[in-house]
Amino acid sequence: MCGIVGYVGSRPALQIVLDGLRRLEYRGYDSAGIAVIDHSVILTEKKAGKLANLEKALADRAGDGIAVGPTAIGHTRWATHGGPTDRNAHPHVSADGRVAVIHNGIIENFGRLRAELEATGVEFVSDTDTECAAHLLAAEMRALRESGAEDGPQLLAEGMRRTVRRLEGAFTLLAVDVQVPDAVVAARRNSPLVVGRGDGENFLASDVSAFIEHTREAVELGQDQVVLITPAGIEITDFTGAPATGKEFHIDWDASAAEKGGYDYFMLKEIAEQPQAIAETLLGRLSERGDIVLDEVRLTDQDLRDVDKVFIIACGTAYHAGMVAKYAIEHWVRIPCEVELASEFRYRDPVLDRSTLVIAISQSGETMDTLMALRHAKEQKARVLAICNTNGSTIPRESDAVLYTHGGPEIAVASTKAFLTMLVACYLIGLHLAQIRGVMYADEVAAVVSRLRRTPDNLRDLLAGMEDVRALARDLRTASTVLFIGRHVGFPVALEGALKLKELAYMHAEGFAAGELKHGPIALIEEGTPVVCVVPSPAGRGVLRDKVVSNIQEVRARGARTIVIAEEGDEEVRAYADHLIQVPRTPTLLAPLMTTVPLQILACEIASARGYDVDQPRNLAKSVTVE
Ligand code: F6R
Repeated sequence: MCGIVGYVGSRPALQIVLDGLRRLEYRGYDSAGIAVIDHSVILTEKKAGKLANLEKALADRAGDGIAVGPTAIGHTRWATHGGPTDRNAHPHVSADGRVAVIHNGIIENFGRLRAELEATGVEFVSDTDTECAAHLLAAEMRALRESGAEDGPQLLAEGMRRTVRRLEGAFTLLAVDVQVPDAVVAARRNSPLVVGRGDGENFLASDVSAFIEHTREAVELGQDQVVLITPAGIEITDFTGAPATGKEFHIDWDASAAEKGGYDYFMLKEIAEQPQAIAETLLGRLSERGDIVLDEVRLTDQDLRDVDKVFIIACGTAYHAGMVAKYAIEHWVRIPCEVELASEFRYRDPVLDRSTLVIAISQSGETMDTLMALRHAKEQKARVLAICNTNGSTIPRESDAVLYTHGGPEIAVASTKAFLTMLVACYLIGLHLAQIRGVMYADEVAAVVSRLRRTPDNLRDLLAGMEDVRALARDLRTASTVLFIGRHVGFPVALEGALKLKELAYMHAEGFAAGELKHGPIALIEEGTPVVCVVPSPAGRGVLRDKVVSNIQEVRARGARTIVIAEEGDEEVRAYADHLIQVPRTPTLLAPLMTTVPLQILACEIASARGYDVDQPRNLAKSVTVE
């Protein structure tokens, strides 16, 4: 999703803002642009494509002041209104040349505003919704000057407040004014924005990684706030102009956490970090005796005892984590648990009340579909518990309670360690509910906990032996279709494997419940079609495992090339596997913590072998802040 950076200070702003944009590249974008104020001139440059295109264009402009001006805003755009072209890239400059604006989000009433502005003679030069904010801001500032207000930072801030009061939708807006060489104004509604507090300089960004190398002191803006930054200070108001405050915080991230650390891709680094990410997510949440300790979750035991139904809402990979959680929660807690795509949830009028627990799962904490579903749940009086990886983001802030996954920053667009840590958080919640509702005995909970504690080591062993998977990936790079099948918790793993392959390798890939094959999808199988089969453990749920083995035989009989993921020690499946990938023994409900990992590596390596950008696949964004 769009990345936004702003800077005021005494240093040349261009390089600081470009470096910030580079750190936000992980969010996904398809064009980039920058506006610098230098000696009462707004200098802009914007280009479709990656930052390198913008930098190339900037390299030819050494003499015009763009490299030295001390105030700048920069933007990476993920196209919504209007294609990813130079013309539609941000910043947008008002028709009178006074202000330049960048924007993240969607202005829903832009059609009406555009018609209104066009009626006053404004000529639009782009197809974007953002451009109307630039013209509107210039018009509001003109009106203020005509009524006697003087040019300066306060006029810019008041112009912004008047502008945003007219906008509907979600936005972070940043603007600079040619007559105010040392100020940037910003407004925020339903879209992320943080302020970095420096010494004689200040920063604005979609997230702290953009300015972490310059300052570790930050202010998180609240909903519907306007902030004016100058080298001397930070001034926050609400949309009416009443003084307001943001939430000050210190960034304790390690800056190197945002670097690739020697791996070819962030995704490979993040896959390798999974054992640690799981260990961190478990840390402090398991007692020595093997109980679950979730004191940080601000729901009382009585609240949790009163729950009679659980709804899980999430998107994409987080939705797959929710699907696994449904099996665990229903099995352990014995209450109904529904999982729903957040984008569908509120449009079908779900039945919710005070005794419904809604679990919203989101890595970024900013996914608009999940946020809107959460708000709908709250309106129906349900209690909302967020599972999230991003501290201070909107979804946990608006939830009644939150359980943070401690996966660390996930930079690659494709989610990996976030998925495993979401699973761990779901297991913890399931066991906690079962424990306080008295559905599981302490020793039963402790038995699962002891297996959970072993997963980081098991995962390290698994990751150490993935060479065959890499070789297989090179082999599969020319396949036109790859199918994935699984049952029970293996079904969401199959969906996740297919999603990873689609998004990274741009191949046709589909996941199926293995039992559904015979109801249609088996017709897809031709001689040599690769079918990845996720086999349940023979222990515990032997029946399921035998059923999947039958399904494998069915696809083999039709010519499929089978890639079988099975537990170590299950030698019988070898006979049905063209490629066998063995994973450490794990209880059935926890098995996705193991079986997903070879599928992540497979997708990553196939994409790499096909020459694609693994960390930033086409058309995708890390944080999807539009519905
Ligand atoms: C897939 C992927 C997406 C996200 C989805 C939800 O690899 O990353 O499908 O899982 O966009 O994002 P969050 O978890 O940030 O709400």
